[in-house]
Amino acid sequence: MKKDFLCLSDITPLEGWEIINRALDFKKGKRHSEILKNKNLGLLFSKPSTRTRVSFEVGINRLGGRAVYLTSSQMQISRGEDVKDTARTLSRYLDALIVRTYAHAWLVELAQYASIPVINALTDFSHPCQILADVMTAYEYFGEDTKKIKIAYVGDGNNVANSLLVGAGLFGLHLVVATPPGYEPNAMAYQKALELAKHTGGSVQIVNDPLEAVKEASIVYTDVWVSMGDTDGDTKIKFLQPYQVNERLLSYAAPDVKVFHCLPAKKGQEIAEDTFEKHAEEIFNQAENRMWAQMALMEMLFEQIG
Ligand code: CP
Ligand code: NVA
Repeated sequence: MKKDFLCLSDITPLEGWEIINRALDFKKGKRHSEILKNKNLGLLFSKPSTRTRVSFEVGINRLGGRAVYLTSSQMQISRGEDVKDTARTLSRYLDALIVRTYAHAWLVELAQYASIPVINALTDFSHPCQILADVMTAYEYFGEDTKKIKIAYVGDGNNVANSLLVGAGLFGLHLVVATPPGYEPNAMAYQKALELAKHTGGSVQIVNDPLEAVKEASIVYTDVWVSMGDTDGDTKIKFLQPYQVNERLLSYAAPDVKVFHCLPAKKGQEIAEDTFEKHAEEIFNQAENRMWAQMALMEMLFEQIG
């Protein structure tokens, strides 16, 4: 049976922590795998990418496989070929598909018709691979305390915020999200996070006051105010000004706070440039960890299909 990774809730908390542990071992050179030997994995991208594309391609190579990069604008889907026909065709050549697209429903339809595992590499709704790397990075800094510390996300209630909520529920973390009124994360993602948190001991909260979120937080996370495909950027930016992560906001956080950003960053908007540079180490660790976490994810998915 093929297994997809479209949302963090497609895996159990146990599987989630197994991915984090394996990723940490891959990074330390304590784990090696050739599980993708003789496998060809397609990367089907409709949006730009620096980290996701390269971390997947290199991660696939490290696991002994080959990556085939596909831009949707160069494919027949751009001329109206059905999603389901694209899925059925690509399933005849490839062993898995890693997909970055706009509408989440498009990804779900593709996965439904693909007979190979499909991995979500970002949609307008979610970015689950990012959160695997973020939890791994948090674990590197806080170890078992990752489940005790307060994590704040400040900014736009976008795909990353949605997945961070679900991730907090899945991994049993304590997360407070602060966004302007009207820009809160998706209600379904919040419900899913609450449901998961009941079983894992995590807690999730959505507020509108950035100070309330950041107060005594050990990790302060932000992302761009205008995401790929966003059409209301100009209006949104006006409301988001008080949510900038800067030294003043961070003065409310725990001493030695870690700042996370999934990148790319728009310095001067969601994060001040001096703050970004002060926390570059943790931010680029997050970027590096994309590769280790995705290697662990792919290893687990391919083990499960046997
Ligand atoms: N964080 C992230 O997904 O970066 P890219 O858009 O560069 O892939
Ligand atoms: N929210 C951002 C994340 C980029 C990795 C976007 O969707 O553009």
